[in-house]
Amino acid sequence: MTASRRCPLHPLPTAGAGLLLAVLLAARPASAGINLHNKCAFALGVYARSGSNPTYPYYLKPGAQQWLDFGPANLWPAGVIWASKSNNTNNGQATEIEFTIGGDMGNGLKQDFYDISLVNAYNHPVLVTPLNPPSVSGNWCGSPSCTISSLSGFCKLPNYLTGKDPACINKDGPGLVATTGTKAFKTACPKAYSYSKDDATSTFSCKWGTNYNVIFCP
Ligand SMILES: *[C@@H]1O[C@H](CO)[C@@H](O)[C@H](O)[C@H]1NC(C)=O
Repeated sequence: MTASRRCPLHPLPTAGAGLLLAVLLAARPASAGINLHNKCAFALGVYARSGSNPTYPYYLKPGAQQWLDFGPANLWPAGVIWASKSNNTNNGQATEIEFTIGGDMGNGLKQDFYDISLVNAYNHPVLVTPLNPPSVSGNWCGSPSCTISSLSGFCKLPNYLTGKDPACINKDGPGLVATTGTKAFKTACPKAYSYSKDDATSTFSCKWGTNYNVIFCP
């Protein structure tokens, strides 16, 4: 089960319609996507959802990969990905990887945005890395990662362990200000969101049309 399977997140039009779209919308970059890669020593339920669309579950054995295709429109707004070794579909108890593919820049241009969010919780280590970046400079096409080596060592009051995975809940993460608890998450993972307004050091952007790797247990 290590072979990569293509699995569209949006229903794909027929080949003929796809070709017509490609001709009409030649200015759009070729369809891109995200490669999910489970490098953990254990199997993971990996979940992906865009906006209010349904959550797509993928069961990835150790070493397995899954290709998520953004489809011919190459859009994936308000996308979120998370993983759980106990198949916990509650993204409030997981490290979240957030993507907006083809975000509108307001001037007819589009751009991708991505980040790792510990605003709700941390459960598994993750690395996000662009596969074909046009250039890399700081948070432009950069590769955020977050690894906390000892959950039980790190996760003390005011943060706490819960659930089967387990996960360290970031109690103050959804708040508007940094607290002692959120600062502990920030120190552990400086390139990840530690609370909801932690934008400056946590938001990454890259050219529309870029492909990405999301690696669990990198
Ligand atoms: C998670 O789901 C997969 C696929 O349905 C299943 O094979 C596996 O046993 C489940 N794992 C747990 C811990 O429930």
